Amino acid sequence: AKITFITSDDETITLEGTSGSVMALAVDNGIKGIDGDCGGVCSCATCHVHVLPEHVSKTGTASEIETDMLELDDDADEFSRLCCQLEITEALDGVVLRVAK
Ligand code: FES
Repeated sequence: AKITFITSDDETITLEGTSGSVMALAVDNGIKGIDGDCGGVCSCATCHVHVLPEHVSKTGTASEIETDMLELDDDADEFSRLCCQLEITEALDGVVLRVAK
């Protein structure tokens, strides 16, 4: 699946991934602003992204444990996801994610 990130510098980077989490793909490719400090267990929020509103049908909305983490983040909104919780499948193809501040 092709996954596009918009970084805080307004750089647009499209990556291709087949499996694993979106966080791992971003970290492996050095996407600025995605650190994945907790290793993908939903406990750090350094993998916070905003899904473009028109792409929420591809990703779904945040689970309860993501929402609990995101509550601590001032930049969170209803399109926020922790991208370690986004599993790469073809369903995500074409999604655009804006890296949170
Ligand atoms: Fe820590 Fe996603 S990598 S919450």
